Parts: sequence; structure tokens; C-alpha cells
Amino acid sequence: MIQDSVVAPLAEQVAALLEEARARTLLLISPLSEAELRTQHNRLMGPLLWDLGHIAHFEELWLLRNLEGPVEFGEMPGMFNPFENPRAVRGGLDMPTLPQTLSVMAETRALVLDRIPTLDLAGDDPLLRDGYVFRMVAQHEYQHGETMLQALQLKEDGLYRAPRAWSVPEPRWAPRAEMVSFPGGEVEIGTADRGASYDNERPPHRVKLRPFRIDAAPVTNGAYLEFMEAGGYDERRLWTDAGWAWLEETGARSPQFWEREGGEWKTRTMDHRAAVDPRRPVCHVSAHEAEAFARWAGKRLPTEPEWEAAATWDPATGTRRAYPWGGEAPTRELANLDQLAFETAPVGAYPRNVSPIGCYGMIGDVWEWTASDFAGYPGYETFPYPEYSEVFFGPEYRVLRGGSWATRPGAARSTFRNWDYPIRRQIFSGFRCAADE
Ligand code: AVJ
Ligand code: FE
Repeated sequence: MIQDSVVAPLAEQVAALLEEARARTLLLISPLSEAELRTQHNRLMGPLLWDLGHIAHFEELWLLRNLEGPVEFGEMPGMFNPFENPRAVRGGLDMPTLPQTLSVMAETRALVLDRIPTLDLAGDDPLLRDGYVFRMVAQHEYQHGETMLQALQLKEDGLYRAPRAWSVPEPRWAPRAEMVSFPGGEVEIGTADRGASYDNERPPHRVKLRPFRIDAAPVTNGAYLEFMEAGGYDERRLWTDAGWAWLEETGARSPQFWEREGGEWKTRTMDHRAAVDPRRPVCHVSAHEAEAFARWAGKRLPTEPEWEAAATWDPATGTRRAYPWGGEAPTRELANLDQLAFETAPVGAYPRNVSPIGCYGMIGDVWEWTASDFAGYPGYETFPYPEYSEVFFGPEYRVLRGGSWATRPGAARSTFRNWDYPIRRQIFSGFRCAADE
């Protein structure tokens, strides 16, 4: 009897989680024709139809096949294996039709839902315990939702008709100073959580930090414009060697999607063009641009431990919060998250989104570039498959933190680590700067 009352609600919870993730995926693609879903808009991003097939493939692998007995690969071979078919080639694949793809998604899901009540979610299997594998699969679908939005931002044959469900509030908070201080000392970062967190967020560990200062808010378009107007893109000394090489190769002179029109900077967001709003965090910049700005401002990018301490640590009590604002799970009221605003918000629009030391917007709006390469924490153990994180560890990938407006709350955590090449800027990427005390 006790077992029933504990197990049944969790089974229902994970089923609801999967269903809600799917409803969102279908909402995001609802304005798009099959031809648009099949089009590869840019070689950096695959066609959305591939993401849909891949979402079903991943669910089939982890929630059906793998439960029969462990599989040896985290991504099974075939059309929807991301390693066999990297993004650049996905437009050339002979993919099934949209109705066929939607049927596979629905059929896989029906089998999964039938299966859930038969599983022991309270046992010892770390994959099933607390419903982890279901949260992993839901989170995978959330992450592909953000990937699909990145692809749509690159769409050039007409704007996406975004199914906007809410708009961002006006600012109701302002930083008292440009930077806040962190006194340094030993802090704990990472997590022991096995209910939702990825392997790369574990184990929790202590890190000694020197005193540092960090921007109280993400760098805004207004501040970034000052850097541009001061000739930031022309000053060799502001750029690393890799950054300068990237600049020469791409000819970049502004964040991606900015256009100069009649003496004014305009930007293209998901579904409209508008004047660049100086109050919003700068978005679509590479790590190289972030570093050049930081050098121009006499600052640097924060390391990952600095970023996480600034987001969660309360030096007054020597304790940490789960989220900048406290223990409450993220919602779209607390931070600019969950996609359906389809844009960043002016700094200060979410007055509760402030960390103990006074950093605004560490969760939501834009992913923030850090100075850290993507690596396993001391004592890292792959779980459940190396192709999520481990195969990407190394100096070629840079970590981003905090989530963007396009991140779903179920994938937004202070310990969450995202990564990409430092040259990438089709992602919803911004930054804040730090400095030694
Ligand atoms: C964590 C965003 C780098 O898109 O490559 C999706 C997420 N992993 N499917 C990616 C992911 C497997 C991953 N990033
Ligand atoms: Fe994937």
C-alpha cells in the first residue's frame, strides 16, 4: 500500500512531463510547413524535421530498447544518429515525410506510456530511480526545442511566425553599481543530484576562489554599442590570436543578426525586425567578441566556479542557494525562460532574479560565456552515456552558463553546463565580465 502511494504519483509525474515536452515541440513547429521543416537553413543547424526524428529515436533508445537490457551506445546507428550525420549533412538525408515522422513520435510515445506503470521507479537502478531516465528524455526534447529555435533564427526565406504566448515585462529593478564583489574563499559548486542533473554537473566539490568582482548584470546592447563605436572591432590588442583570426575570416563588425539601417542598428529576432534595444542583454556574440569587450572594459570573463559562486553562494552565511533567488524551481515569472516570449528582456524585468551577492539575470535571457574549457569535474563519472558530455571534454569547447529565453525551466539550473565552440554565435549567447579584486 505504501509502495502504491509513493510510486504511482511519480509514474504519473514522468508521463505528464513527457507529454508536456511533446506539446511544446508540436507548438513550436505548428506554424511551419513540411517544406520549411525539411529546409536546412544554415550548415550550422540541421533541418527541424531531423530534430523531430531524432527526438523519437532518442526516446525509443532510452525508454524502450535500453529498458530491455543496457545498450552499448548512447545513440543508436542510423539516419538520426548525430555523430554519423553531423548537422552540415542533415539537409541531404532522405528523411521520412512529416506525417511519417509524427507517427513514429506518437507510436513510440504510446509504447512508452504503456510501459511506465510496469517499471520500478523506487528501486536501485540509477537509470529508473526517481524517474531519472524520463527526466533525461524530457530534457533532451527541451534542448532540441532550443536547437530548433536557433535554426529558425537563421531562417532567411521569411520570418518564423512565432506562437508568442506572453511578452516580457518592463524593467522594475536596476543595479546599484556596475559590479558586485565576491570576497573569495572556499565555495561548493556542482551537484550530487541524480533526479534531473546531467553527469557533467557532478560531483559537487569545493573550490578556493580569490576575491573577485563581477558585473551585476549581463552586458547590454547599449554597452556593447559603446565598444563598437570605440572601434573595438578594429583594435588588434583587444583580441586574442584566435579571436583576431576569427575576425579576419568572418569580417564580423557587430553581433550576428544586427544590420545598420539609416544610421541606426536594427536586429532581426525570431519573428520581427526592431531597433537594437540598449537595455537588453547583448545576444548572438562569440566568445571571442565577449573576450574583446572584456579586455576593452579592463575586465575578463568569469571562470565557471566564479560564475556559479556569483549565482548561488551567500558569503554572509557560507551557504548556497539552489537558484539565484532561492529554492523555488524556475518559472517564467522568476526569469526570462521558457521560449514563448521569443526574445530577451530589458535588464531588471525580473526583480526576483537576483543572487545573494546581487547579480541579476544569472538564469534566463542569454547563455553566458565563461573563461573555462569544457572538462569533467574531479571525480567525474560518465552516466549514463559518454556521448552526452564526455566525448566533448577538451580545450576546443567553451562552457556557457545560465540558460537563455529559449531554455525550458526543466533544463535551467545554476549547475547546468552548456558548451560550444568559441566561434559560435547562432546560439542565444551573451556574457557578463569579471575582474580581480
Ligand atoms: C548541450 C546543447 C551542447 O545540442 O549538442 C542534444 C545538447 N545533446 N542532444 C547539443 C544535446 C544531445 C547539446 N548541448
Ligand atoms: Fe540530441
